[in-house]
Amino acid sequence: MPLLELRQVAAGYSNTTVLKNIDITMKAGEIVTLVGANGAGKSTTAKLISGMLRPSKGDVLLDGKPIGSLTACDRLRQGISHVPEGRQIFGGLTVADNLALGAYSVCKVDRSIIEQQFKFVCRLFPVLRERLGDIAGNFSGGQQQMLAIARGLMSRPRILVLDEPSLGVAPLLVAEIFKLIQRLRDEGITILLAEQNARQALAIADRGYVLEQSTITMSGPAGELASSKDIAERYLGVGGSVSHGHDRSGQMAAKLQALIA
Ligand SMILES: Nc1ncnc2c1ncn2[C@@H]1O[C@H](COP(=O)(O)OP(=O)(O)OP(=O)(O)O)[C@@H](O)[C@H]1O
Ligand SMILES: [Mg+2]
Repeated sequence: MPLLELRQVAAGYSNTTVLKNIDITMKAGEIVTLVGANGAGKSTTAKLISGMLRPSKGDVLLDGKPIGSLTACDRLRQGISHVPEGRQIFGGLTVADNLALGAYSVCKVDRSIIEQQFKFVCRLFPVLRERLGDIAGNFSGGQQQMLAIARGLMSRPRILVLDEPSLGVAPLLVAEIFKLIQRLRDEGITILLAEQNARQALAIADRGYVLEQSTITMSGPAGELASSKDIAERYLGVGGSVSHGHDRSGQMAAKLQALIA
């Protein structure tokens, strides 16, 4: 049985349907990546998993049990933790305070989890351990991303939903963060990785899903997706036509060529 499943899910905002017929499964211990262009619905899918958004059709199942109607708080208690796009750390607070807030859901359950997880994140992120008393808002994008992931780990999740961890992070630190995501998988945490950076995401994932025009258009082992010609052309910046918004200079060149012709 999959650990987590989205079964024929539809969702949106107000009267707009953003996603339809979404089927995703995640087995325990996998990194599953969700790739797609700007606005394809990656964050919306991430929110459906963590409960920031409820499905209008279909259901989300955890251990085979429907959780689509549960709040984000309930799902956090069941082990689903969301590291949101743009990090959303508390910039005016210290690193230690940000971590403490991540432990909110477990503090009434078992306080020993806080100490365990604190030791765990300090081991994973020595840079944070050295700066526990520093104000988080002064950190670089990459360090803030590490803090956001560390905060997400404080509740001892079984499933970590990571929304665009590479966004606004310098390339060297992106490589470090992606290595760390693999390490988390090796520690037994199941990961949903929503990423525009398809190349790097597919390089570390076990399986992947491609979101286009409100639905899943391709899925499979990450290696197979990475070597698919379609994906290479559309998301990995190689080969012929440029059909997505990532390569704005390519689109501009095509427009100029059309004007000149
Ligand atoms: N709170 C909201 N209210 C209304 N529409 C929204 C809201 N959030 C997202 N949308 C719309 O839903 C669609 C999917 O957005 P979503 O943020 O899920 O895409 P994404 O794949 O994460 O994009 P990005 O790569 O820019 O992060 C877009 O058309 C977006 O404008
Ligand atoms: Mg997004």
